Amino acid sequence: MTFRDDGYRAVDWAADYLERVAELPVLAQVEPGEIRARLPQSPPEEPEPFGAVLRDLDEILLPGVTHWQHPRFFAYFATTASEPGILAELLAATLNSVGFLWRTAPASTELELLVCDWVAQLLGLPAGWHGHIEDTASTSTLAALIAARHTTGRNVVVCSEHAHSAADKAARMLGMELRKIPAADDFRMRADLLELDAAAAVVATVGTTSTTSVDPVAAIADRCEAAGTWLHVDAAYAGSAMVCPELRWAFEGVDRADSLVVNAHKWMYTPMDCSLLWTSRPDEFRNAFSLVPEFLRTTDEDVLNLSEYGPALGRRFRSLKLWAVLRCYGAEGLRSRIREAIRLAELFESWVRAEPGWEVCAPRPFSTVCFRRHGSDEENAAILERANASGEIFISHTKLNGRCVLRLAIGSDRTTEADVRLAWELLRDLG
Ligand SMILES: Cc1ncc(COP(=O)(O)O)c(C=O)c1O
Repeated sequence: MTFRDDGYRAVDWAADYLERVAELPVLAQVEPGEIRARLPQSPPEEPEPFGAVLRDLDEILLPGVTHWQHPRFFAYFATTASEPGILAELLAATLNSVGFLWRTAPASTELELLVCDWVAQLLGLPAGWHGHIEDTASTSTLAALIAARHTTGRNVVVCSEHAHSAADKAARMLGMELRKIPAADDFRMRADLLELDAAAAVVATVGTTSTTSVDPVAAIADRCEAAGTWLHVDAAYAGSAMVCPELRWAFEGVDRADSLVVNAHKWMYTPMDCSLLWTSRPDEFRNAFSLVPEFLRTTDEDVLNLSEYGPALGRRFRSLKLWAVLRCYGAEGLRSRIREAIRLAELFESWVRAEPGWEVCAPRPFSTVCFRRHGSDEENAAILERANASGEIFISHTKLNGRCVLRLAIGSDRTTEADVRLAWELLRDLG
């Protein structure tokens, strides 16, 4: 078998998988350790054909896959690896560019800067911000806090009680103190309670993980400006929705941020991983991260070496898949999909509201619905367990005001109204 023949088989496998994924159980129905136990415990001595890898993918690994590409994956934040993105990943691996210097990867470096500018335009961000791509929002937020500490010389991070644990983890890794600010009844940070003495950074969230609430960024920006505190905005999930002008209310004040993260691998149809990090203060990022040993020095002038703006030296050609998505969807294609996800969430929410014995537990700005059955936490947890064990849907939960709440997030390009209806009927019947 040649690379070409194996390649055709791999692409056929991918196409067949995407056609039949809706028929597979969304949540892997395996016990811990089961997959590993079915695999040889030592590597093969002799080379095997690629076809053997494909066979074992089907026979051994697939039962252990939780299908993020399934139209009824509604847990956490549902995502889509779109077909153009998948193919571009193949091409990026083929090129295997390692973009630490402009010289080592001119096209990767320049395309990365360009797609970040393109997305900035699509989201209505100010012109002229520096954007580059990290692997995940966890790394983007870590990088932003490193820049904030380096710039301010302070050691305290402030965020709301609903900020993602990535902020806690970054603060812990950096040895910074973390202060949590309570949220109001609508789960938005109480900006009036901000105490910013000695604060290096505030992490404000547009689209919190539990409820997708939107912190009052403009009011937080006022306080940060007065205190000389860095403002980092985590819009990992909801940022992509700003392609729709009618949702831009959620970005009010974001133009005053020092840094901003949006995950294209969450709601911009781009395969994992692709986290866009912009800053209005690129010089501060460069001061924090630039460290160029002799063996990396070049004589190139007027170039950006992206390793000088973040933690990693070797960097993947991540912009290729996002570029493919932006071109093959077009701005209008992105807008119509975001609007459809929100329409479906609105519909689901209306069914919950109309059903006696069920309640919606948080305002719904985007495509994630928080709801519960009247009754105990144990009863709601049992509904979740049984729904997920059915293999028909996969949803997740959170805790709001001390109570267990079910959470249905719509974000897959493959989800239809029939899928959302099936989810509701299953949950309602289990309730
Ligand atoms: C608001 C928010 N920030 C950060 C993250 C972390 O994202 P990542 O997995 O890219 O580190 C998430 C993940 O869901 C999130 O919802």
